[in-house]
Amino acid sequence: MERTLIIIKPDAVQRGLIGEIIARFERRGLRIVGMKLMQIDEALARRHYAVHEGKPFYEPLVAYITSGPVVVMALEGKDAIAIARRTMGATNPAEALPGTIRADFGIEIGRNLVHGSDGPETAAFELDLFFEESELLRYERAIDPWVSEG
Ligand code: RTP
Ligand code: MG
Repeated sequence: MERTLIIIKPDAVQRGLIGEIIARFERRGLRIVGMKLMQIDEALARRHYAVHEGKPFYEPLVAYITSGPVVVMALEGKDAIAIARRTMGATNPAEALPGTIRADFGIEIGRNLVHGSDGPETAAFELDLFFEESELLRYERAIDPWVSEG
């Protein structure tokens, strides 16, 4: 069982796509174990995207992710990290496959609607950045045996 951090970015919130995006992950079978609406401040944005510091898109990226409210979610499931990334699609919506969130709702890289952790260490770091331990719930759904063999 893995956990991953998803951010529904400010463009998606402004465009009224919160429900649509949550539904994609929910229908996939991933379990929502944490979720909140928040505004990311500059310090948090810089820590979250520290790996990109110095790259040409870093400053615009910090401005983008702090530009309005976001929804942050912790999703859980078998291979949740990779599955969430495939549900999101390629970083650049122009190259993402149809059926993915980024392709179905976006056209360019600087407005790509959603973030997902890219590996187990990143996921642990990012979940710790955005959630208190008490905000991450442990529960089972009646449908879980219909989603996963266990
Ligand atoms: P994310 O971290 O947001 O889930 O996206 P990702 O792993 O697919 O892509 P990453 O390489 O981590 O880039 C982080 C975010 O920076 C913006 N970006 N802009 N203009 C550019 O060349 C460029 N490259 C990346 C995107 O918003 C990307 O999601
Ligand atoms: Mg990334």
